[in-house]
Amino acid sequence: MTTLSTINSILKSNTLNKEVIVQGWVKTFRSNRFINLNDGSCIEDLQCVLDYENTKKNILDKINTGASLKIQGKVQESKGRGQKYEIEVESLEVLGESDPDKFPIQPKKHSFEFLRENAHLRVRTKTISSVFRIRSEISYAIHKFFNEQGFFYVHTPIITGSDAEGAGEMFRVTTLKDNNIDHCEDFFGKETNLTVSGQLEAEALALGLGNVYTFGPTFRAENSNTSRHLAEFWMVEPEMAFYDLNDNMDLAESFIKKIITHVYSKCKSDIKFLNDRLEKEELTKPKDQRSELSLIERIEFVINNDFKRISYTEAFDILRNSKSNKKKKFKYPVSEWGIDFQSEHERFLVEKHFKCPVIVYDYPAKIKAFYMRLNDDKDTVRAMDILFPGIGEIVGGSQREERLEVLKDRIKKQGIDEKELWWYLDLRKYGTVKHSGFGLGLERLILFITGMNNIRDVIPFPRTPKNAEF
Ligand code: 4AD
Ligand code: MG
Repeated sequence: MTTLSTINSILKSNTLNKEVIVQGWVKTFRSNRFINLNDGSCIEDLQCVLDYENTKKNILDKINTGASLKIQGKVQESKGRGQKYEIEVESLEVLGESDPDKFPIQPKKHSFEFLRENAHLRVRTKTISSVFRIRSEISYAIHKFFNEQGFFYVHTPIITGSDAEGAGEMFRVTTLKDNNIDHCEDFFGKETNLTVSGQLEAEALALGLGNVYTFGPTFRAENSNTSRHLAEFWMVEPEMAFYDLNDNMDLAESFIKKIITHVYSKCKSDIKFLNDRLEKEELTKPKDQRSELSLIERIEFVINNDFKRISYTEAFDILRNSKSNKKKKFKYPVSEWGIDFQSEHERFLVEKHFKCPVIVYDYPAKIKAFYMRLNDDKDTVRAMDILFPGIGEIVGGSQREERLEVLKDRIKKQGIDEKELWWYLDLRKYGTVKHSGFGLGLERLILFITGMNNIRDVIPFPRTPKNAEF
C-alpha cells in the first residue's frame, strides 16, 4: 500500500507504467471518469481515471465526494491540465460510501464557523489538513531542537495542587459530587486542579538535570472568548539551570527561528497552498486593509531578521508618546507606568513601530507572577515576552527568583500561602542557582506559520468557553 505523498515522489521520479495501489477519500468525481483522490498524506490530490464504460453502474453511483476507495492502477502521463501524471484505474473497490446529499463537506468553499461545527470532518478539507500536517511537523521540530541541544524531555503532572501563574484561572479536579464538601474527603485529600503550566515542576527537574523541557497540554479557565485564547492549549516550557535572562532570550529567539526554518523547508507545498489561499482572501479586502507582506514573506522576514529587544519602560514611552495614544486611538490609553500592555499595544509595537518581532523585558513586578527575579530597582522583574506580528504575545518567560528571602517576600506580597509552595522554596534552600525558562504557546506559533486567523482552527478539537463538543 502506498500513500499519496509517496506516490507523488514516485511520480516526480517519472516511473511510467508502474503499478500502484492507493486508498483515500473522493474529493470530486467529474464526468463519470475523473476521480480526485486524497488520503491526507499531502496537499496534492491524485487524479485517477476510470474506464467508465466498463464500470458497473452500481459502483459508479457510489463514487461520491467523501466516499473511501481502494484503487489499483498504472501511472500514466496525464493528457489533461492541472497534473502531470494520473492513475489509470484497473480495479476499484468502494470501501465506505458517503451520501452525497448529507455529507457536510461539499467540494465548495465553507466558512470556518461551519467547519468548526463539523470538527470531526473538517480535516477532509485542504486548509485544515494542511494546518494539522504543519502542526505535526512543528511538534516534531520542537523535540528535535531540544534533543539536539542536549535538553531532557520531562513529563510534569497534569493534575496539580498549585497555581503556577497565581492568576486563579483553574479548572478544579474533584471526585466529590458536592463541591461544598471538605477537600480532605476528596480523592487526593486536598484541592487539586488541571495544570496551568508545568513550570514549577520543570524548575525542580532543571535543578538536577540542567536543561529540561516540557511539552504538553495546559488548561486555563480564563473567560476570554478571543481568537487567541483556548481553555486547553499546548505549551512548550524549557527550563535551564545557570541561565540568566539574556541567555534565555537568546535561546528563545534561536529556538523560534529554527522551528520556523525547519517547518518552512519540510512543509513547502502546504505553506504555499496556505499562502495562495490568503493572497486570494486579501484581494477581497479594501486596499488599505490588506497586509503588506504575504505569508511566505512574513515567514522569511522572521527567519532572517533579529528580534528587537526593549525594556518595558522603553516600550511604555514609545506607546505613550505615539500618535495612536495621543489621538486616543487605543481602547486602553497608555498613561501610567505599570499598566499591563493590551494586545492593541503589543501589536502597535510589532506591526506599526518596529515592524518586526519584539522582545519586551523587565516588566513591572506588580503585573507579573511571584516567581520572577526582582531587579535591583525593586520595581521591575526579569521577565520577557516575545511579541509577534498578527499574534501579539507568543512567548512568556523569565529569570526565576533564586534568593529564598526575596522569593518568600514576593509570595507574601501576592497573597499566596507559603506553605503551599514548601517544596518550591526547598529548591532555594538546597543548592540554589540562577535559572531561567519560558513558555511558548504552540497554537500561537501555528497561527503565525499557517497565517490562520482563529486559534480554534489550528487545534483539532478546540476547548473554549461554552464549547467542548467532540
Ligand atoms: O505567559 P504565560 O502565561 O507563561 C507561563 O505560563 C510561564 N509559566 C511560562 C514559563 O516561563 N515556563 O504563557 C506562555 C505562553 C503565552 O506566551 C502564550 O503564547 C500561550 O502560552 N498562552 C496561551 N495560548 C492559548 N490560549 C491561552 N489561553 C493561552 N495563555 C497563554
Ligand atoms: Mg504571559
